[in-house]
Amino acid sequence: MKVLIINGPNLNLLGKREPEIYGGKSFEEYLQELRELYPQITIDYYQSNVEGGLINKIHEVGFEDTYILLNAGAYTHTSIALHDAIKAISAPVIEIHISNVHQRESFRHHSMISAACVGVICGFGLDSYRLGIEAFLQRSTQD
Ligand code: DQA
Repeated sequence: MKVLIINGPNLNLLGKREPEIYGGKSFEEYLQELRELYPQITIDYYQSNVEGGLINKIHEVGFEDTYILLNAGAYTHTSIALHDAIKAISAPVIEIHISNVHQRESFRHHSMISAACVGVICGFGLDSYRLGIEAFLQRSTQD
């Protein structure tokens, strides 16, 4: 099984960025732990601060036998183009958020991409990504 984690803008700064919200661990550190936890799964990772970069990546892998965990960062709340990209591909996408966006500013309460995704996981810190993998593992036994 292959999982691709796609992180959007500012998520390259995890560990340094607002640690009271996003924690003190870098994503690279967390990714290593995740790979150790699931040695049977190939976990690839892509991060971009550019909306078009995220869309290009979704197009590139979207017709492969892969499962996508997408934390689109702030583009979650603005990007119809990301919604369309997710709709355009055959690979399933789960929307991920580290923080509970519904406990935060009202501009974070709406997602442009949720309706295009198979589900949403938010508010569990970095563990949101692991929960996404668990959801895909469950789903892959039904595929
Ligand atoms: C985020 C929540 C977004 O509102 C924010 O813009 C992010 C991170 C999260 O993982 O909690 O950059 O997606």
